[in-house]
Amino acid sequence: MHTVGRSHTTARPRPSGINTRASFRVVPSGAALGAEIQGVDFALAVPEDVKEALRKAWAEHLVLLFRDQDIDDHRLLAAAGIFGPPHDSASRKYHLNAGRKVDNRYMISEHPSVSIISNLDENGDPVKDNGSLGSYEVVWHTDNSYVEVPPAGSMLYALVVPVDGGGDTSFNNQYLAYEELSDEFKRVIEGKYQVHDSSRNSAGVLRPGVRLPTKAEEVEGPTHPLVRVHPVTRKRALYLGRRRDWPSNYIVGMPNAENEALLDKLWAHATQSKYAWTHKWRVGDIVLWDNRCCMHYRTEVDPMQPRIMHRTTIKGEPPIAPW
Ligand code: SIN
Repeated sequence: MHTVGRSHTTARPRPSGINTRASFRVVPSGAALGAEIQGVDFALAVPEDVKEALRKAWAEHLVLLFRDQDIDDHRLLAAAGIFGPPHDSASRKYHLNAGRKVDNRYMISEHPSVSIISNLDENGDPVKDNGSLGSYEVVWHTDNSYVEVPPAGSMLYALVVPVDGGGDTSFNNQYLAYEELSDEFKRVIEGKYQVHDSSRNSAGVLRPGVRLPTKAEEVEGPTHPLVRVHPVTRKRALYLGRRRDWPSNYIVGMPNAENEALLDKLWAHATQSKYAWTHKWRVGDIVLWDNRCCMHYRTEVDPMQPRIMHRTTIKGEPPIAPW
């Protein structure tokens, strides 16, 4: 059984030389996206000029990494609040409806916008399948694209990580993926919308109380444009959600075979390694990503070793179509 003890409910006073514009550094990953932010400690008060610099760095680099943080969920929510108001986890209701109990240690946080992403069961032991993401590989996706108003961003905080036990998380740049489509391909997808299947999570696990669709008409979920405009940068990005075997996400008004062939082609393009950056976690890492212009992916976790992360999401807007 694993316990996690961290508690700094209020911001500690800020010593000089930290959380100042002078201490603030952005170190780009050198890949297609991602940067480490140095000189910021979320356990301490963050002044407005540093918050502004953080928002600017997020818009520029899409994914931000903060090392050596030591905070509780209240401070995590405050850190995410720099980038926008909280978004309540979309998967939480399925687990509560299925009778799972709120439990701040392993499964369901008391904060509706905090998700506990762990591979622990209700006894606190690591397992392969815990009815959620468990230790499974998590396929490329954007968070909560299966709701009408998906979160703008997600912030993931590492509390317990396996030693050489997998669970690395990759991110990719969907602005670049869109930009590098041929003009002809851009024309093919122009004006097209996709239904985003809500039945399974990103590990392929059927959500509690949900039936697997057996035909397109049974796929439940919102309709979003294949290309969206970022409200801050005004740039276009591919917006693909998740890829599962038919019947699942589909492009509205297109016959099945054509649909699948187009989605396969788009996914093969969007998930090329040249658009990606991979993060190997250390305890105390916080990574913030932008769901409006990135997808993410996680490798399998060793089911014998615990991995506990707390994730909070930031309120977004209905995806803006460019046409
Ligand atoms: C997620 O898809 O939000 C989880 C990623 C991870 O566990 O690294």
